[in-house]
Amino acid sequence: MVQAISWNGTDLVLIDQTRLPDDLHYRHITTVDGTFEAIQRLRVRGAPAIGITAAYGLYLAVRNDTFASPDDFFGALRRHIDYLSGARPTAVNLVWALEAIYARLTAEHADDVETLKKRLLDAAIALHDDDRRRCEAIGAAGAELVAPGAGILTHCNTGALATGGIGTAFGVIYHAHRNGKGIHVYADETRPVLQGARLTMFELEQAEIPATLICDNMAAALMQAGRVDMVVVGADRIAANGSAANKIGTYGVAVLARHHGIPFYVAAPLSTIDRRTATGADIPIENRDPEEVRSVFERCTITIPGADVWNPAFDVTPPELIDGIITEVGVLRAPYSDSIEQAFSELSSHNQ
Ligand code: MRU
Repeated sequence: MVQAISWNGTDLVLIDQTRLPDDLHYRHITTVDGTFEAIQRLRVRGAPAIGITAAYGLYLAVRNDTFASPDDFFGALRRHIDYLSGARPTAVNLVWALEAIYARLTAEHADDVETLKKRLLDAAIALHDDDRRRCEAIGAAGAELVAPGAGILTHCNTGALATGGIGTAFGVIYHAHRNGKGIHVYADETRPVLQGARLTMFELEQAEIPATLICDNMAAALMQAGRVDMVVVGADRIAANGSAANKIGTYGVAVLARHHGIPFYVAAPLSTIDRRTATGADIPIENRDPEEVRSVFERCTITIPGADVWNPAFDVTPPELIDGIITEVGVLRAPYSDSIEQAFSELSSHNQ
C-alpha cells in the first residue's frame, strides 16, 4: 500500500494527491506555509491525514527558530496552531491533532527549548503511528459486519491516502477482502474533486480488490438492481448526537440506502468525534472554489464562463440514517449521544 505521509528524518514527504492516478509524485515539505498550502490545495486530504500532516507541519514551523524561553516557544506554537487550523474547517482531526500535541507538550515539564522541539517531532510521529493502529482496529471491527459475497458501496476516499494506515471505511473493505469474504466494491466517482474515481479506484486496484466505478447519480439504480448489500463511508466530523459530516453526496447515499433497506455505516476513529459540536447543524461546512464545479478537475470546462455555482465540500448525514459508527473501540449504535459518551468514558478509564 502507498504511504500518503512520511517523515524522512528531515522533510515531510507527501504524495501529491492532485496528480493521482496519472502520476505518483512525492512532494517534500519543509515549511509551515508549505504544509498549509498542501492541506488547502488537497495535495493531502482525508480527515486523519490532514491532522497527521499538520502535526509534522507544527514541527517544521519551529524547528529552525530560536526562542528565549519555553514560554516564547509555546506562544509561537499557539500562533502556528491557529494558522494551521484554518487550512480547512470541517475535518475536526486537524484541530484535534494540533491540540493533542500541544496538550502533550505542556503536560511534560522541560526548561530546554531544544528538548521541546524534539518532543514535538516525537509526538507527531507517535500520532502518525497511533492512527495506523486505529485503522487496523476499525477494519477488524467493521469486517465482522460484512456478509460473504457482499456488494459494498463507498463514497470519496478513505484508504491509505486519507489516513496514517489502511484507512477507515477502506480499512473495513480491506479486512473483509483479506478475510476471504469475496466482496465486490462499488466506488462513487465523487464529484467535483473525484476522490472516488482518482484515488479509491487506485487503492482498490493496488489492493487487488474487485471493484466497479460508478458516477454519483448511478447509486440509486445500482441499489434498485440489488447489487449493494452495505454502504460504508468515512467521516470528517461526527457531532455528539451522531450526525456525521462527510464528502458531499454522502447524505444522498444514506437516504437512498434507507429507502432500499440497505445498512449504512460510518467508519471513523474517535478522533473524528467532536463532543463539543452538539449537532450536525453546528458543523462548519467548507465551501470551495466554484472552478471545481465549472470544470472537470481543472482539465476541461463544462459550463458557461462564470456560471453561478454552489460548492459545499461536505454534507451532514443525520443519526437516524446511520446504522452504526465503526470505531477502533467497536461499533457504536443509536442512540449515539449515549454510545459516544460511553465509548469515551471507557477509553479514559482504560488510559488511566
Ligand atoms: O475533501 P476531502 O478529500 O479531504 O474529503 C475526505 C472525506 O470526505 C473522507 O471521506 C473523510 O475525510 C474520511 S477519510 C478517512
